[in-house]
Amino acid sequence: MKLVAAVELDNVSFEDQQPAQVDSLADLLKGLGCAPKQINPRFFYDARGSELFEKITQLPEYYPTRTEKAILKHNAEDIASLVGRHGVLIEPGSGNCEKVRLLLDALHPSAYIPLDISAEFLSASAWQLGKEFSWLNVQAVCADFSGPWQEHTQLPAGKRVVFYPGSTIGNMDPASARAFLSGLRPLIGPGGGVLIGVDLQKSETVLNAAYNDAQGVTAAFNLNVLSAVNAIADADFQLDMFSHQAFYNTERSRIEMHLISKRKQTVNVGGIPVLFEQGESVHTENSYKYSLESFAELAATAGLQVQRSWCDDGQLFSVHYLGVPE
Ligand code: AVJ
Repeated sequence: MKLVAAVELDNVSFEDQQPAQVDSLADLLKGLGCAPKQINPRFFYDARGSELFEKITQLPEYYPTRTEKAILKHNAEDIASLVGRHGVLIEPGSGNCEKVRLLLDALHPSAYIPLDISAEFLSASAWQLGKEFSWLNVQAVCADFSGPWQEHTQLPAGKRVVFYPGSTIGNMDPASARAFLSGLRPLIGPGGGVLIGVDLQKSETVLNAAYNDAQGVTAAFNLNVLSAVNAIADADFQLDMFSHQAFYNTERSRIEMHLISKRKQTVNVGGIPVLFEQGESVHTENSYKYSLESFAELAATAGLQVQRSWCDDGQLFSVHYLGVPE
């Protein structure tokens, strides 16, 4: 995929490192071969899934997105006083670059580096952002953030700060989250930081409602992963043969999403028959919830220190600035 921008902008560059998608099929087959069966939540975000997630963020029950945006908006100046101005702001999985807009005037970075694996979406989003913020140097990189993208990318000089909003870290189990955070240290260097959004532990009723909305959008989002799998793995999942299940697992402080097989059935996945018992689950997502303390502890074990945390008045969601301790 090449540059999709209609008009070249002086302040926007786009580098396509063409991240390989060849591992998708192997990943799917492996997950469906596990006991219990699982599907990696990254498969939620095909075109329809991204659209459904966008709808989720607007649901009355789904508090995280609007709460985080309010936190960023109300504390932008305070955040800037810690992050500093004129730094290099790096955002893994930048999507539509929506949330960074709330910080740009306050942070005034010397460069913004959005990274995403979807080339078309990334170049369009980067171009749009560069048009709106004509003073901003946008250096978009289409790559898998967990890969060696930096070997091919010349980052400008300046303090490096990774922006990771949306409680995306909640999809990782604590060991993976620790490894992810720890892996950021070589990138940011001793003087750099991480600005990260983390969903908080709260009443089970509120959590369960956020993942079982009245309009059934989350159910449609969960079930849609099967049509994404059908496309990627040439499978024949029938969406109406599974039902959405989401609940808070108190012991592990996480929302779990599952798809439950309505009947005993065999599904063909890329030529391989996969048997589902009636009532059998496919685990599609974990969404870990932290307390301010448990997240600070996780960061500490990853060699990062919480320097400040911001919350809404209802303590629903948190944003943290992590630095490398001296
Ligand atoms: C994008 C991973 C933060 O865990 O709340 C929303 C995804 N799943 N509803 C989350 C999601 C079901 C979301 N994250």
